[in-house]
Amino acid sequence: MIGKSLKNYVVEEALGKGGMGMVYRARDTRLGRSVALKILKPEVVQDPDRRRRFIQEARAASAVNHPAIAQIYEIEESDDTTFISMEYVDGSTVRQLVERGELDLSAALEVAIQVADGLARAHEAGIVHRDIKSDNVMVSRDGHPKILDFGLAKLIDIGRDSDAGASRLETVTRTQAGMILGTIHYMSPEQARGLPTDRRSDVFSFGVLLYEMASGSLPFKGASVLDTLHAIAYQETQPISSLKANLPYSLQKVIDRCLQKKPEDRYQNLRETVADLKRVKREVESGVTGGVPLLERVRFWLGGMTTKGMIWAAVAGAVVGGLFFSWLLGNGPGENWGGLIFVGLAGLFIFRRFRNRGQREARRFVKKASAFREVRLITLHKGEFTVAVEKPTAKTYLKLNALLTAANERLYHGDPMTLVIREELAEVDLRKLLASPGVRFLREDPRRPGKMKAAGTGG
Ligand SMILES: Nc1ncnc2c1ncn2[C@@H]1O[C@H](COP(=O)(O)OP(=O)(O)OP(=O)(O)O)[C@@H](O)[C@H]1O
Ligand SMILES: [Mg+2]
Repeated sequence: MIGKSLKNYVVEEALGKGGMGMVYRARDTRLGRSVALKILKPEVVQDPDRRRRFIQEARAASAVNHPAIAQIYEIEESDDTTFISMEYVDGSTVRQLVERGELDLSAALEVAIQVADGLARAHEAGIVHRDIKSDNVMVSRDGHPKILDFGLAKLIDIGRDSDAGASRLETVTRTQAGMILGTIHYMSPEQARGLPTDRRSDVFSFGVLLYEMASGSLPFKGASVLDTLHAIAYQETQPISSLKANLPYSLQKVIDRCLQKKPEDRYQNLRETVADLKRVKREVESGVTGGVPLLERVRFWLGGMTTKGMIWAAVAGAVVGGLFFSWLLGNGPGENWGGLIFVGLAGLFIFRRFRNRGQREARRFVKKASAFREVRLITLHKGEFTVAVEKPTAKTYLKLNALLTAANERLYHGDPMTLVIREELAEVDLRKLLASPGVRFLREDPRRPGKMKAAGTGG
């Protein structure tokens, strides 16, 4: 194939092989630029009806313009060959970057933000990708992510669209027979079951990609195709923090929301995902990340119990344990109502302590942080501390972060608290902060050690 001409293209180099055929780098002699040519296998384009619909879809996809989407230039035929010419990306696929360990957290987040933004744009134009995976996202040498193969997956999906509700096994058999799908690890549960898909299916596949970029491994893996599909449809994923150290809990939450089994529980709009990912990125860049609360970890060991369920389980455990103890001590519970009431009250006490944990940890944080001379003001609003500091050192940041991590670790349930540190605020900004809700501490005279001014309980 190398050196051959197809219409106005001269094939120069093989780039890779995929489910639909080979991909080559070629020279467009008319426009004098490099392009990527995907030469479709004949069996893929045999059925004229399928072909027509495929071309329609590709044409629609080529109209979507976004810096993170590799442009489709044209679909052409020469002799017996059908090929697609598209933007050539000089770089590596995300899969290669992950395999070579070249994506650190902040790079992964940047790629994710841009890919989600590109996908959001396509969704707004009514185009669903249907084959989001790490092979279909490249990062150019100068660091720009590009989504490949937009709209092209329709070709392999058409057969499945027409018979919604086909059994999973049937889908699998077809998948295996055709081997067109290459990998099934990124399929959404509805895709895996052969049901109709919409943009929310892309949200799921994007979640798989995000998981892979952050942790280096895939969330759903089975020994066989069927096992993998079973995992996609029914299994919870392992938290990314158990695979790689220092991954923020806020990122886990974004991933979890993408990977919900029911489409209606996922992000309905990727614009929201973009906003959340930007927040995670800021958190990572400021070096302030919340750890995973203990209860979340326990919840995972217990296979996904709700917070309320766990509190009740703890109370019930305490009561049963107490009863057992009083039994051991030789006072049958039947004769000893006093003991029973005591155990009940103890359970209630434990429950209350459990419930008020968040407020107590917040108070403890304020008390300890306000002892630092550099701290001028602390507010707490919706679980986020804002700490205004003056003449901070690196140590100030470290100490405040350590306090927050410790508080979050003691937090047995609920979302972890977050922290924003603001440095050298002008008096007017300080006043603005002071007027905002949830002021917990103010040092009136910066030269004197801490004294509580306002200590509202809201926040
Ligand atoms: N536009 C492009 N620019 C540069 N390289 C490309 C481009 N498109 C594809 N490639 C390279 O060719 C390889 C094969 O791509 P192809 O899309 O055929 O396979 P795939 O993505 O693995 O599977 P699928 O057929 O499901 O998309 C890619 O992994 C990538 O390395
Ligand atoms: Mg591809």
